[in-house]
Amino acid sequence: MKKKIVVAITGASGAIYANLLLKTLNRLQDQIAEVAVVMSDNAKDVWRFELDNEDFNNYDYKFYAKNDFMAPFASGSARFDTMVIVPCSMGTLGRIAGGISDDLIIRAADVILKERRKLILVARDTPLNLIHIRNMETVTAAGGIICPAIPSYYSKPKTIEELAMTVVNRVIDLIGLEHESYRWNEE
Ligand SMILES: Cc1cc2nc3c(=O)[nH]c(=O)nc-3n(C[C@H](O)[C@H](O)[C@H](O)COP(=O)(O)O)c2cc1C
Repeated sequence: MKKKIVVAITGASGAIYANLLLKTLNRLQDQIAEVAVVMSDNAKDVWRFELDNEDFNNYDYKFYAKNDFMAPFASGSARFDTMVIVPCSMGTLGRIAGGISDDLIIRAADVILKERRKLILVARDTPLNLIHIRNMETVTAAGGIICPAIPSYYSKPKTIEELAMTVVNRVIDLIGLEHESYRWNEE
């Protein structure tokens, strides 16, 4: 079955992860039925600030306003399989953990959890306080996956993009898409 995926982008540092995920999903289109995107206001500001562009405007995916509760994935009946929040701010994590569905991102995450589908949070902040850690525990207990924006070095990445792709590749694995990437100890 081809996947229906929601990508939510929030105002944590790491717009590069969102950009690379959107690019990679585009490359894997044959395995995907639909990608829907929603960005918080801060996500747009952080993207402009960190990447010096507005490339989120260049993707062909359908973008939804963050207060558009008429979006299909605001209801479980639309049957989206997976939601990735990338990067995921501590504010968004906290609102999900608290069940505060006051915008489309939190509502969609709430729906994914109640329907027992896959919610992947590419959480980013450092250091973490106890509230962040407890919120991660709560979301994990509810079935969500905390996939922190922590790159790995054992593939010996040479550029910032390659380093960021070590996180994005793990997200693609978690979504369950087939793709080529570095695999530890494989030829
Ligand atoms: C440049 C920049 C970097 C930020 N980085 C982080 C971060 O890494 N983690 C985080 O939780 N918040 C970060 N913030 C703060 C969030 O953007 C802010 O808490 C916001 O309210 C989150 O709302 P949102 O989740 O709806 O996007 C950053 C803000 C700016 C301007």
